[in-house]
Amino acid sequence: MQLTQAQCEALERDGFLVLPGIFSGPEVDLIQARLPALFAEDHPGNIVERSSGSVRTSMGLQLRDPLIGALVQHPRLIGPALQILGEPAYIQQVKVNVKAAFSGEAWQWHYDFATHHAEDGVPRPSALNLHIFLDDVSEFNGPLYFVPGSHRFGGLSTRLDSKTTSYPLWVCDRAEVAKLVERRGLVAAKGARGTMLIFHDTLVHGSPNNISPWDRAIFSLIVNPIANAPQSPTRADHKHHQDLTAVAPLSDDCLAAPLIR
Ligand code: SIN
Ligand code: MN
Repeated sequence: MQLTQAQCEALERDGFLVLPGIFSGPEVDLIQARLPALFAEDHPGNIVERSSGSVRTSMGLQLRDPLIGALVQHPRLIGPALQILGEPAYIQQVKVNVKAAFSGEAWQWHYDFATHHAEDGVPRPSALNLHIFLDDVSEFNGPLYFVPGSHRFGGLSTRLDSKTTSYPLWVCDRAEVAKLVERRGLVAAKGARGTMLIFHDTLVHGSPNNISPWDRAIFSLIVNPIANAPQSPTRADHKHHQDLTAVAPLSDDCLAAPLIR
């Protein structure tokens, strides 16, 4: 799959792109069906929420499940990613962010490059984050909030927050976020399950608690150019993979391959 010129321009202008209907209901069912067993594993990639003890994020999934191993090479993800990057890339991080009904916790305001740079020594903000909605995402169940165009503002002050949630993250200064939002507004990334989302490494985003009765799970794949690999990695492999093999797209029906059982 390739993006149109208009889609590329919208991504460049806003820093994100919402693509509805990219993965079918049955394909999302296949992915969802893998999650309970993965979340039940005693694995360092399963990070639980402080308050509820339920899984907040589950990482390194392509190494733990063959279907997710195929998904991270899916042409509907990797085609656009390589088109945008224009250079060979590796799989940096693979996860499902869960926000369980009634209890899912917030992600503070941040941009991913702050963490990639401070924790891993990634030189430039070139990585792309590709999401697939595994549940319908509405204004109610903890959608991502984006500050449109904020990927161009660069250099917002950040600090390491290891207290607010169970996942340490370099978060933005709130006064600076307030100023940015005053100028640029906010967009909630909503859509039916199967919607795909692409966003840039410097796009300012966050998401609120999920107090609704509806679960919200989102699959996330981060790809980074091989030429932009970490210079001083400090984090576990599931947080930033050390395997720099170039990713290449499989066939469009790769999730249905008979070997994936
Ligand atoms: C979320 O899952 O709500 C946040 C994801 C992200 O920061 O990429
Ligand atoms: Mn993020």
